[in-house]
Amino acid sequence: MTVQEARVRAEALRKVVNEHNRRYYVESSPVISDFEFDLLMEELLGIEKKFPELVDAASPTQRVGSDLSEGFVQVAHRYPMLSLGNTYSEGELREFDARIAKAFDEAYEYVCELKFDGASISLTYVDGTLQRAVTRGDGVQGDDVTANVRTIRSIPLQLHGDSFPKEVEVRGEILLPHSALESMNREREKQGKALFANPRNATAGTLKMLDSKEVARRGLDSFIYYMPGNDLPFASHYESLQAARSWGFKVSEHTQKCGDIGAVVDFIRHWDAARKRLPYDTDGVVIKVNSLAQQRALGFTAKTPRWAIAYKFKAEQALTKLLSVDYQVGRTGAITPVANLDPVKLAGTVVKRASLHNADQIALLDIHVGDMVYVEKGGEIIPKIVGVDASARTENLLPLQYIDVCPECATPLVRLEGEAKHFCPNENGCPPQIAGRIIHFASRKAMNIEGLGEETVELLYKNGLVKNAGDLFDLHKAQIARLERMGDKSAENILQGLENSKKVPFARVLFALGIRYVGETIAKKLADAFGSLDALQNATLEQLLAVDEIGEQIAKSALAFFGEEKNQLLLGKLREAGLCFTTEKQQLASSKLEGLTFAITGTMSRPRGELKQLIERHGGKVASAISGSTSYLLAGEKAGSKMQKAEALRVKVIGEAQLLELIAK
Ligand code: IVH
Repeated sequence: MTVQEARVRAEALRKVVNEHNRRYYVESSPVISDFEFDLLMEELLGIEKKFPELVDAASPTQRVGSDLSEGFVQVAHRYPMLSLGNTYSEGELREFDARIAKAFDEAYEYVCELKFDGASISLTYVDGTLQRAVTRGDGVQGDDVTANVRTIRSIPLQLHGDSFPKEVEVRGEILLPHSALESMNREREKQGKALFANPRNATAGTLKMLDSKEVARRGLDSFIYYMPGNDLPFASHYESLQAARSWGFKVSEHTQKCGDIGAVVDFIRHWDAARKRLPYDTDGVVIKVNSLAQQRALGFTAKTPRWAIAYKFKAEQALTKLLSVDYQVGRTGAITPVANLDPVKLAGTVVKRASLHNADQIALLDIHVGDMVYVEKGGEIIPKIVGVDASARTENLLPLQYIDVCPECATPLVRLEGEAKHFCPNENGCPPQIAGRIIHFASRKAMNIEGLGEETVELLYKNGLVKNAGDLFDLHKAQIARLERMGDKSAENILQGLENSKKVPFARVLFALGIRYVGETIAKKLADAFGSLDALQNATLEQLLAVDEIGEQIAKSALAFFGEEKNQLLLGKLREAGLCFTTEKQQLASSKLEGLTFAITGTMSRPRGELKQLIERHGGKVASAISGSTSYLLAGEKAGSKMQKAEALRVKVIGEAQLLELIAK
């Protein structure tokens, strides 16, 4: 096959594959089998592998993602991304309609759409090719998340047909269907990672991931609902959506024109119930004036368009039976009552447990075990009980008696003034508190110790191997390997994870200690202000209070923590283990690369960030662009334009192996 033949074939294949992608992901009506699709894709991949010069960013093969994205660049929106006025009441909706009616002598109509609960996105296409995908950000500028958005199958990389403007921006919502969230959370649970509370958080989190390969695996979807611009070739919003659909975007089939406010109200009533059967979250209906000329006449306030409003649904509730109540003890000793429920479907997932908050809330709702209770999903993972159907209560049910001793260690509970929760004061003897502190220490945002999830920490604790975070660093391979479900491999992983944690910066070590009221942000503030553990430990109340955002409660809590003997012992042990207790620059591993500046391009066997760290730890520098002063270009597979530049500037090109040689020399 000549290059010319290959180009023709590749273009033909891209067209066909794009079309099948659209049928599959946008229309949900594929016309070929997955197997046939894979064959086409394989052929295209084969050609692109043989003729790398034919690889095109808009090719459907480029959706697999790469793990090279380094942070996000902020991009200004051409038109600000505004929010919508909100209402929960039909009355206010009618007032909105009255304002519109007053503005015009002529007729007007509305378009009603579902309000998708995900993350909004702005997509810019030039000559039909996806150029840029930017998050809403603060409305004025957002993050460039193009690499991640490219992995979303329902977003065309290349627009269909030829009726699109030379440059066009479309906006819509990226969302995560229920099924995708569930499988993601199942996996996270297995790995001992924190679960995503809802599809919205999961979507926003996924869009901001650095590894677009992982993004590609997560199953994001999209709906387009708006095209900004002053000179679009359409008379109405509805037409613009039809056009977007014809270009290959997914536009909701539930979007509907409504001649008057009565029809709008009917649409809302219908979807308030019907949305529960949709495979993704919606939290309301968006009502928009259809005519673009009328939209322009109405214009915008500082924050919202005058031609649109969002009617928000009340949070979904379900009615189910309260079977029993468990009391959970957190790492700080706080008690949380959790209801076990007769499993019930709520907003797309099955709910078996719900929070009861605290004793006051239980008393307020007058909860009896066996009651029929209303459960509501808020923003949290655990739904909450918001009410009781007292009329369904049978005579024999008893009011729920709150516990007065700790369910784990039988210590009488205390309730501090001004606090809603009961506490178990036995912090040194209560198992979930002890294990909880170690779990927190090892968790991702703290020391991020690989292999040490919740279950493993509990296992180590139950077997008497660890009683505090310091003990982790005394562990031996054989001790871990002989525990159930463990083995040599997992033991090695844990030890390696512990070793790696010695590089975690001081601010995170401080957060990992679990000092009450010292969360991630405060830990960072304290680390920056004092620079070292020694300085922080010796700080007086006044010195602590002098730090920005540190109030009495935090300062006193820190003083109390450092004043306790057992904490001093723990800190001594952690210091001995070699954890980072100062904010000073980390020690160099060697100075083999001192004075050398590197630029990096292409795909390597490990993420770019890791290579950068490696170079820096040996005294080298990494520059984002190549210049005359670059010492080496580190190039991997599929090297980009930096390669030509290196040749032009006579910069020496090396591979990963040669880099390692330089370090080993
Ligand atoms: S229109 C200028 N339509 O709701 C009008 N927004 O509160 C732009 N949203 O940030 C928005 N579904 O993320 C519009 N069918 C829909 C929507 C929708 C969800 C989100 C969007 C926006 C927020 C506004």
